[in-house]
Amino acid sequence: MARKIDYSALLFAAWFISFSIAVQHDSSVQRSFIIDYDNNTFLKDGQPFQYISGSIHYFRLLPDSWDDRLAKMRAAGLNAVQIYVPWNFHMPRPGQHRFTGSADLDLFLALAQKHDLLAIVRAGPYICAEWDFGGLPAWLLQRNASMVMRSSDPQFLAAVDEWMAVLLPIIARRLYSSGGNVIMVQLENEYGSTGQCDLAYIRHLYQLGRRYLGNQTVLFSTDNTLTCVAKERQFYATIDFGVDGTRSLKDTFAPLRALQPKGPLVNSEYYAGWLDHWSSPHVRVGAQLVADGLARMLAYGVNVNIYMFFGGTNFGYWNGANSPPFEPQPTSYDYDAPIAENGDTRYKYQLIRQVIKDATGRQPSPVPRNSSASSFGRVKLQRSASLLGNLDSLIVNRLDGKLPVTMESLGQFQGFALYGTQISEDFKAVAPSLTSSYSLRVEKVRDFVYAFASSSSKPSLGQFLGFISYAESAAVLNFTASDLSSIRNIWLLVENCGHVNSGPDIQGNVKGIIGQVTLNGAPLNGWRSYSLDFDRLAAKLPYAKRLAASEEPQAAQASLYMGRLILDKNNLTDTYANLSTFCKGQLWINGFNLGRYWPCAGPQVTLYVPRAVLREGSNSVAVLELLQAPCLSDSSCRIDFLREPDVGFRSKSVADSAISLRFRGKFAVPSSADQLPSVDDERI
Ligand SMILES: *[C@@H]1O[C@H](CO)[C@@H](O)[C@H](O)[C@H]1NC(C)=O
Ligand SMILES: *[C@@H]1O[C@H](CO)[C@@H](O)[C@H](O)[C@H]1NC(C)=O
Ligand SMILES: *[C@@H]1O[C@H](CO)[C@@H](O)[C@H](O)[C@H]1NC(C)=O
Ligand SMILES: *[C@@H]1O[C@H](CO)[C@@H](O)[C@H](O)[C@H]1NC(C)=O
Ligand SMILES: *[C@@H]1O[C@H](CO)[C@@H](O)[C@H](O)[C@H]1NC(C)=O
Ligand SMILES: *[C@@H]1O[C@H](CO)[C@@H](O)[C@H](O)[C@H]1NC(C)=O
Ligand SMILES: *[C@@H]1O[C@H](CO)[C@@H](O)[C@H](O)[C@H]1NC(C)=O
Repeated sequence: MARKIDYSALLFAAWFISFSIAVQHDSSVQRSFIIDYDNNTFLKDGQPFQYISGSIHYFRLLPDSWDDRLAKMRAAGLNAVQIYVPWNFHMPRPGQHRFTGSADLDLFLALAQKHDLLAIVRAGPYICAEWDFGGLPAWLLQRNASMVMRSSDPQFLAAVDEWMAVLLPIIARRLYSSGGNVIMVQLENEYGSTGQCDLAYIRHLYQLGRRYLGNQTVLFSTDNTLTCVAKERQFYATIDFGVDGTRSLKDTFAPLRALQPKGPLVNSEYYAGWLDHWSSPHVRVGAQLVADGLARMLAYGVNVNIYMFFGGTNFGYWNGANSPPFEPQPTSYDYDAPIAENGDTRYKYQLIRQVIKDATGRQPSPVPRNSSASSFGRVKLQRSASLLGNLDSLIVNRLDGKLPVTMESLGQFQGFALYGTQISEDFKAVAPSLTSSYSLRVEKVRDFVYAFASSSSKPSLGQFLGFISYAESAAVLNFTASDLSSIRNIWLLVENCGHVNSGPDIQGNVKGIIGQVTLNGAPLNGWRSYSLDFDRLAAKLPYAKRLAASEEPQAAQASLYMGRLILDKNNLTDTYANLSTFCKGQLWINGFNLGRYWPCAGPQVTLYVPRAVLREGSNSVAVLELLQAPCLSDSSCRIDFLREPDVGFRSKSVADSAISLRFRGKFAVPSSADQLPSVDDERI
């Protein structure tokens, strides 16, 4: 759908069509979903209705698996699914729209309806979701890094209007009243947590919702702070909370009831699990506690959405980050959910299914089989390309200036950028303290810098100087070099570890090197800023190519390692890649970016490889290793493809290397997770 659209025409046409369909249906089939304030309930086709929903993010799994996960959700007894719509996934660049493959929202909604599941759509523009930038497109920062996100800043509203004119008509066609399955639509999300309360923005969103979705559609908010959106009394207010054995539901809902005395009670996010962060232990929430809490809510008449019912995977670079302190989330979004990342139904699933069956008296459909995974043995890899030796194929864009420019200014919204500068002959005069010890200081690092130096004669044969991570208190790298000519070129590869997805730090959330870089106190001026495309190189590099000795820079970090996995057509199944012999980087199979790996920090050790990326015969495996230099002299580089995942179940699998020690223990487990109950049993 990457075509130019006349928004005003589209807007009117979509409104007109959805309006006409709605009118037609009203006079024939009486499909309606409304709020009965007097009786504190939803009414579906005039009958009291309680929803029991589960969250699933269609963008966190491949479309081949949509049918399987939805069947399993229906078989648990759920009567609805709740989804987010990530703006940045559907609109990767200004004017570019993507609604195919994993982004085929319309198809996903239709499939859910086929499985007899209603849909609750959280349409954004901001969603959180532990997703890159909370779903906002990073090209907003390219337009103006000072644009105030989630506000009535005219620049932000203009972009929102443009997106909603595309999105809301798609949802309008799938409304329950129009014959579809969408019963409720949320705009914005947990707005109170911004600390800003821009009512002009909230009213604007409400008007957009009404304009495209009509006057009958239930528009709702989810917000625990109740100090802003809920006071407006436009959106129907709901709250979210996890297992809490200490408070009665009456007490939990009391603050909401004080503001909104009537209407059905809703818990929009009942936490069946919790998210992880790199360098922190994998979080689990006990199955029995989740089931008991659900039983209490259903008996109390609460409409519940279980978050997450199926978590899935942050493929590519799509994970978000919490801040402050900056803590990115790992690739797996398993979430300790009732349905595991690969589609297995857990013990927690069985308990929930029983609770729903007891509460509703309805016999659910039989549970579909587990999606089996296979062990495919060992694949050996060899180093096939280095960063500095392949700049020509990696560089997409270049901007020169006195200071480095942000990744967004380069049009690089995810992944990696490279910054290069040359130390001039007269630098010694500027920095007389230069001896053999050097101290490189970066004003601000977003988020991870891998530093290299090379001499002027052979720029591709660089050496690795070290790294500076977001976890360091000062962005300083100390190194030694025999003389200045051996470090004539300084190269800083910078990884965007995921835009912040919630809280005040989403404002001005640009990536790359921000500000000045100094060497022994003297500013390094004159930078070339490059955007890089590792995906392209990883997809086209032949696996058989091995770096010739003369091409091998001393710096093996930031190199691509290639191998091939040979598969039989009769047994293509899911599998898990054990990245334990590597430290930190990115994995591709057949050019598909499976996400970041970082067993040196943990808790996640294996990456989920869905069947759909595999094919019969030879599969190309590409690893971008950023921190270590394995298997230079031998062929010890390998990936074992396993039948079982390890996203942190075995805490001992967090490697005990010097690098991991720099990360481990840096962060406390997030405070909200502190309040979560501990796991009551070993069954997952
Ligand atoms: C709602 O409550 C009113 C009175 O409180 C009652 O007359 C009516 O039948 C109720 N409606 C439903 C659908 O239960
Ligand atoms: C960028 O956004 C800020 C905040 O809205 C505004 O004050 C400023 O004028 C904008 N800059 C440009 C160049 O539009
Ligand atoms: C919705 O409400 C507005 C304002 O009350 C009204 O002007 C408009 O005609 C209504 N639209 C529909 C489709 O009922
Ligand atoms: C599915 O897999 C889970 C764990 O991966 C296991 O506990 C469960 O028993 C399996 N279910 C079936 C029906 O095999
Ligand atoms: C795949 O199938 C072939 C023959 O059907 C068998 O020899 C091989 O062991 C199978 N591999 C796996 C991983 O199941
Ligand atoms: C780097 O060197 C400076 C100057 O010698 C010293 O003050 C600082 O503590 C060192 N920093 C690190 C991270 O080693
Ligand atoms: C992954 O590989 C490492 C290193 O070979 C090994 O110690 C570990 O047990 C493997 N993990 C799993 C889940 O098999």
